[in-house]
Amino acid sequence: PRLLVLNGPNLNMLGVREPAIYGSGTYADLVSLCRREGRLAGFSEVRCFQSNHEGALVDEIQAALGRYDAIVLNPAAYTHTSVALLDALKAVGIPCVEVHISDVSSREDFRQVSYVRAACVATVSGEGLAGYGHAIRILADALDG
Ligand code: DQA
Repeated sequence: PRLLVLNGPNLNMLGVREPAIYGSGTYADLVSLCRREGRLAGFSEVRCFQSNHEGALVDEIQAALGRYDAIVLNPAAYTHTSVALLDALKAVGIPCVEVHISDVSSREDFRQVSYVRAACVATVSGEGLAGYGHAIRILADALDG
């Protein structure tokens, strides 16, 4: 199976951006982790894509139809605003796990809503970059079962 890992706005700034919240690991570290964990979980292909633009993320989800079997998505701030990402996930029907590096449940009120969650098989939050590994294993298990 093939895995698509999507990251939304400001996640290219990992390592620099609010390290007390998001840690010191960089986006390059995150890509290495996803490639390694993806391979270990049995994915034959792992594509990682980051964009600060909502429409570019919608385009990637649409283009995944017939090409990827599972999606790990950290929509970042678009989590809390984007019906377009929710609709794109519903349109393609590819199993998706929502990931947040920080524990969004213990943060501001405006982070308590997630539009994409309704189209995801699970949410992983507050596990740092390791949460992407967790999400990848959830998807691998879902595809096995
Ligand atoms: C985030 C949490 C979001 O609320 C925030 O806007 C982000 C990152 C996380 O990974 O913890 O940019 O998705």
